[in-house]
Amino acid sequence: MFGRGWLPLCAEGQIAKPGDFLAQSVGGWSVLGVRDKAGAVRALRNACRHQNMPVASQPSGHCESFRCRFHGWTYDLQGKFLSAPPPVAPANNAPGANDLASLPVRVMAGLVFFALDEPSSGFFPPDPAQPYNGTVVTDIACNWKVCLEHLLGSQGTSEPEFAWFWPLLVVRRSGPAVLVEQVVPHTFLRTRLFTHVYGGAIEAQKFSAAASKEACERQQAERAGGAPAAGSALVAEFHRQLDEAYAGNS
Ligand code: FES
Repeated sequence: MFGRGWLPLCAEGQIAKPGDFLAQSVGGWSVLGVRDKAGAVRALRNACRHQNMPVASQPSGHCESFRCRFHGWTYDLQGKFLSAPPPVAPANNAPGANDLASLPVRVMAGLVFFALDEPSSGFFPPDPAQPYNGTVVTDIACNWKVCLEHLLGSQGTSEPEFAWFWPLLVVRRSGPAVLVEQVVPHTFLRTRLFTHVYGGAIEAQKFSAAASKEACERQQAERAGGAPAAGSALVAEFHRQLDEAYAGNS
């Protein structure tokens, strides 16, 4: 489902300075976005090469290097292995053998995208052409598909300043602001919604993010009770693409 294309990781502004990082579980993949000392954005697997535990235990922050809290293996901001305590030192010291796995990464339209395999092409949103003012983070007790159904179902198909980028991004205008809504599928019933705000006040978006949370959780309960998805054309298109993806034809 998520293995074939570019997936959004975060807003570039969330890792604006060297040493800034953001860890995210996207569709079961634990990924780390980080800005290295030279200012380049990198995507790394958030999995220690010692015993596969997460090297970043915080969802976001700032550091000089990553030190795995389990046994102390340490990596630089490019994921290169630096050191380990002698009792747990790696057996294989070949160059790169102990580095964090690096993933293909692209920075487009103010967003960081990663992929599991480098896709041949991708569909990316247009540049918001407004300054990044911050991100509202909303954790929602629903499946990611219910969150998408909510975002797509609440828009008219003729809405001129609304666009959906399969599978996880919705871009819309709200007054002076451009909002990029990024759906992050954490677990089956846990979804994180990032509302990246460009050109408008972040405070103004907190109320609508809270309303989305309430609506999604209500919709999740209704779907669990057997209610069908809302009947808009965009939601129907979402389900058509889902069926194609699950069938392996997209
Ligand atoms: S799992 Fe990371 S140091 Fe052991």
